[in-house]
Amino acid sequence: MSERGEAAVSSGAPRHTDRPPNCVRVAAVGDVHLDDDVLGRFRPALEHLGGKADVLLLAGDLTRHGTSDEARCVAQEFGGLAVPVVAVLGNHDYHSDAPDEVTKILEDAGIIVLERSGVVLDCFGVRLGIAGAKGFGGGFAGRCASEFGEPEMKAFIRHTRTISEEFGAALREQQCDVLVALTHYAPVPETLLGEPPEIYPFLGSYLLAQAIDSASTALAVHGHAHAGSERGMTPGGVSVRNVAHPVIKQAYNVYQLTAPALV
Ligand SMILES: [Fe+2]
Ligand SMILES: [Fe+2]
Repeated sequence: MSERGEAAVSSGAPRHTDRPPNCVRVAAVGDVHLDDDVLGRFRPALEHLGGKADVLLLAGDLTRHGTSDEARCVAQEFGGLAVPVVAVLGNHDYHSDAPDEVTKILEDAGIIVLERSGVVLDCFGVRLGIAGAKGFGGGFAGRCASEFGEPEMKAFIRHTRTISEEFGAALREQQCDVLVALTHYAPVPETLLGEPPEIYPFLGSYLLAQAIDSASTALAVHGHAHAGSERGMTPGGVSVRNVAHPVIKQAYNVYQLTAPALV
């Protein structure tokens, strides 16, 4: 996998001839936390996205408080682009207890919203599979909560386990040439570096990495950890990238993936 960060302001017309054979170009950003006061922040850099990427992934926390007004801002900012837009929701998008309404507003704008589900896109002959889930917390190997004790603790970890199992199944189901995992919560601790260690259990779970490693995943993208680091790797060797906007500090990053079966 090669990668390059994209400038917030792009230039030039679409340049599909620059595309290496059997490659897909995945643009990604998370934690844009839109409301009307920052509406338009990303749009100038998105207008020429078709010349730079084949798909845009949104790694959750698209709104600040999960209101329908904020969701309409997301729809306006990320709707009608030259490439398909695939999103998962984040914890902020659940805060108003209206994730279904947020999802519908995004879907009405043509954005594909995944939750323990997947989609396969045809990217110039390469089948790009994307499976997505919000994910949840619980922590990482040696420093994780377990399904033990009080009902509340058991429910907390059971929620993560259920999400991870269904997310893994969605990953394994995709019939594709290149597979990408999209979550909001982190699957590994490396991409949390910079965050206080005390809150790691609220930022992700090793169970998400197990799901990612259970399939032929080429890349795992997440957000949520605003003070984290961009790069990590699952125990199974899958590249992980934290694309939270405060981490990548630009409108999106682009990751170039090669379809191994087609080389
Ligand atoms: Fe966030
Ligand atoms: Fe978050």
